[in-house]
Amino acid sequence: MRTRILVPLALPLALLGCDTLSGAAGGAGHWPYPSLGHKTPLLIGHRGASGALPEHTLPAYQRALNDGADCIEPDLVFSKDGVLMVRHDTYLSTTTNIASKPEFASRKRTSPDPEFRDREDWWVADFTLAELKTLRAVQPFKNRSLQFDGLYQIPTFDEALELAKSRVTVASKPVCVYPEAKSPAYHALIGHTDMAEKILATLEKHGLAAKGSPVFIQSFEPDFVKKIDAMTELPVVMLVSDKAELDAAMAIPGAPFWQGLGPSIAMLRDESGKSAGVIEAEHAKGIEVHPWTFRDDQPIGGKPIETSIREILALGVDGFFTDFPITGYKVRGDVVHGAE
Ligand code: G3P
Ligand code: CA
Repeated sequence: MRTRILVPLALPLALLGCDTLSGAAGGAGHWPYPSLGHKTPLLIGHRGASGALPEHTLPAYQRALNDGADCIEPDLVFSKDGVLMVRHDTYLSTTTNIASKPEFASRKRTSPDPEFRDREDWWVADFTLAELKTLRAVQPFKNRSLQFDGLYQIPTFDEALELAKSRVTVASKPVCVYPEAKSPAYHALIGHTDMAEKILATLEKHGLAAKGSPVFIQSFEPDFVKKIDAMTELPVVMLVSDKAELDAAMAIPGAPFWQGLGPSIAMLRDESGKSAGVIEAEHAKGIEVHPWTFRDDQPIGGKPIETSIREILALGVDGFFTDFPITGYKVRGDVVHGAE
């Protein structure tokens, strides 16, 4: 039986156990906006509750779940010894304390990652799991609280899955895991050609690889999405930043080879604020739409972020990413309860 673990980091403990979303996270029938099947949209804790705590740490994932998230979102990169680590970036300087570690000073070097050609940094793939475990996470957004800097280790994908299995959401549902394969082509270039296999094997090890498991697998690289879609019955999500990227993915034979689309928020509306048609086009193919990323401290068009979330929900999205799950949880709850 799954148990609910409460950690002392959560602010909205009053919300725990009193979730009244009747159809919460995947339930059908009560959501007033045109999501597929009128299901309540998934609330995805982007990099954990990364607005409150250093991103991609186990406490940030716990906090996201305590704050109402249905899903945690581990971004995945490889260590030197082939372990899937949870990091957004292929480098380490902005999200860890590596710059203050004298034993690693000589390991700073020019980028092996073509995406960051001129960058001097420490690269995750240059370090073993044991070395990475000596680092501590820091908050990369310096306008956010820095009080948790230096406290938490970088987790492995294994550890993130252990956490997910150890508890439930505030709606007492299994925790959904939404891993993102980061830079598969770069990893293949440096010898890690088995990212898809490793992700699926790790999910399998934790009993999360079967059809119907609460898992979505995402990537910005269409070739990877196509490859892994052929290897699993789990839903895969094509991430796109703009219409050109979506068109490029659609031009690949066999497209659409995804069951979910993860567009930028900006792709969903035209200049007048009306739907740009992306949601309707995907829904017509039975594909869910999960836009990214709402951030309380990065308002859109000068509006309160709650207003922006509500506007996007009203367009009919099936899920949304936010650094501040507590805010998303409140807005989604207000929709369910009919609050203006
Ligand atoms: O995965 C959805 C969103 O996280 C994509 O952006 O760069 O934050 O991983 P990023
Ligand atoms: Ca991501």
